[in-house]
Formats: sequence, structure tokens, C-alpha cells
Amino acid sequence: MQIEKVMVVGAGQMGAGIAQVCAQAGYQVYLNDMKEDIVEKGLGVIAKNLERQVQKERISSDEKERILARFIKSIDLKDAKNADIVIEAAVENLKIKMQIFEELDQYAPAHAILATNTSSLPITEIAAATKRPEKVIGMHFMNPVPVMKLVEIIRGLATEGEVYEAVEAMTESLKKVPVEVNDFPGFVSNRVLMPMINEAVYTLYEGVATKEAIDEVMKLGMNHPMGPLTLADFIGLDTCLYIMETLHEGFGDDKYRPCPLLRKYVKAGWLGKKSGRGFYVYP
Ligand code: CAA
Repeated sequence: MQIEKVMVVGAGQMGAGIAQVCAQAGYQVYLNDMKEDIVEKGLGVIAKNLERQVQKERISSDEKERILARFIKSIDLKDAKNADIVIEAAVENLKIKMQIFEELDQYAPAHAILATNTSSLPITEIAAATKRPEKVIGMHFMNPVPVMKLVEIIRGLATEGEVYEAVEAMTESLKKVPVEVNDFPGFVSNRVLMPMINEAVYTLYEGVATKEAIDEVMKLGMNHPMGPLTLADFIGLDTCLYIMETLHEGFGDDKYRPCPLLRKYVKAGWLGKKSGRGFYVYP
């Protein structure tokens, strides 16, 4: 199964990161979003990241230009007709993802793999929106994509072995490490990470310590690169809440109940770094 052309659906934080590492590995990349200005914004972030690599003398200016020339802007899912693999990194919402997969299934060539970067939703259910569940797979990148080595690879119930192997090989070609996990809510990464973040929010809610103190304990005491509340702001509090709700609903266990303070912040529009305010304020 030869993969040469990639389409990334969603040009936000995750989509742009995925598109960047694909183009850097030599793939031609259709970067898709609903509006041209969102695609432009994603490409702007990529160009800035590449320029930083030029400044650090990791790549030459020519190489940067060659990488940028591998992008094709797209605002139409019909462009999937050109792709060997589509990696969907749209909003974390099952209904929306299922709609996108239903459409992609109509346009993508029969051999094309349809991958989703979902962080917690069931691959088998997303695959059921298509007539090719054997070609649907989870490919969960971590944020920031250009830096983080891990990609969780999740097979749906019907995913073919050949599709898994092609995605595993592609992940390695991106200089990332694929780790296979099974199709359970939150997979491994978010089943372990999000309850820790949620618990950190509870310690703040219950007045156990200040936000700075909670982050300092986890940074200095556990050697985490970021404290859990800073990390929650970085991921997005809406995403954290959605994942906790997915875990809570999926397992039906109260230990996954989202902290009321997390809900309150999301309701207030305090979504973290992207909205300028979460647990911390971002100028
Ligand atoms: N895009 C590209 N590169 C970035 C970047 C970004 N957004 N942010 C930082 N970098 C690069 C920097 O250029 C720098 O590169 P070099 O070392 O090659 O020069 C390197 O990362 C380190 O950056 P900084 O020195 O500026 O900052 P730092 O040392 O504090 O590292 C960090 C920043 C890598 C984000 C680090 O704080 C970290 O690892 N944090 C934890 C991240 C994490 O846990 N991610 C997983 C989130 S959960 C998830 O993604 C799953 C989900 O489904 C929710």
C-alpha cells in the first residue's frame, strides 16, 4: 500500500502540526478546512515553525521552500479524490466526525485509508459511518505535533492488517513512534492523563492549594515538563471537558466525573491559551 499523497482535514493546532510533519517527511499534503482563512492561518503557523528551524540551522532556506511547495490548499472535501490517506483532525465531536467520514468515503479513492486523530472517540463507531470500515483507523498525535514522538494507533473492529501496517510504516516515516492500543474510550493516553488533570482541577476547586502550587508540585515533584493546569490550558479546557465526558459516559464510572470548576470555566468561555484565559491569563 503506497502512500504518497496525504489530505489533512482541519487546519487548527493539531491539523497544522500533522500537515507540517507530513510535508517535512516528503509527502504532498492537501491542507483542508472549511474556510480559506483558516487554511491560511494554519499554513502561517507552519511557515513560522519552519523559519525557526532555518534560524536554528536545522534546515536550509531552500529546504523550507521545498517543504512549503508540497502543500495544496483545500476548502472542499472532494479533494479527497487525490489522497492515498486522509487524516482527519477536525473538532472533537462524534457527530461532526461521522458526517466528515461519510463524505470522505464518497470522494476518496477505493484504496484510500481514512484515519482520525480523535483523542478519545470510538474508531469503530466513526468507521461505521463509511462503507469501508476496513480502511478506517485511529492515528492519535500529541500536541505539539512537531515535538512529541508518540502516535497512538487504534484499530477499529474491522480495520485490515494491511491498513495497520501501512499506517505504522507511515508513522515511522514521520520520525514518530507508533504504539498500538485498543479501541476503548480515551485509549491509553487520555485515560491516564485526563483523570490526572481533572484531579488537579479538583484540588484547586477544593482549595487544597493555589494553581501555581499545584503546577509546581507536579513539575518539580514528578518531573513533568508542564504542571497539569498549565497543560490543561495548553490542550484547551473544552477539549479536556469533552474527553472527561467521553470517559464518564463510556465507562459509566463516577471516577471520571468532570470537576464542576472545569465545567464552569468552559461555560465562561475560559478555554485556556487559545481564548486568552483559562486557569492562567495569556496576554
Ligand atoms: N510547535 C512546534 N515546536 C514547538 C512548539 C510548537 N507549538 N512548542 C515548542 N516547540 C519546540 C521549540 O521550538 C523547542 O525546539 P528545540 O528544542 O528543537 O529548539 C522545543 O519544542 C522546546 O520548546 P521550549 O524550549 O520553547 O519550551 P519547553 O522546553 O518548555 O517545551 C513543550 C515546550 C515541548 C510544549 C513542553 O513543555 C512539553 O513537553 N509539555 C508537555 C506537552 C504534552 O504533555 N503534550 C501532550 C498533551 S496531551 C495530547 O496532546 C493528547 C490529547 O489528545 C489531548
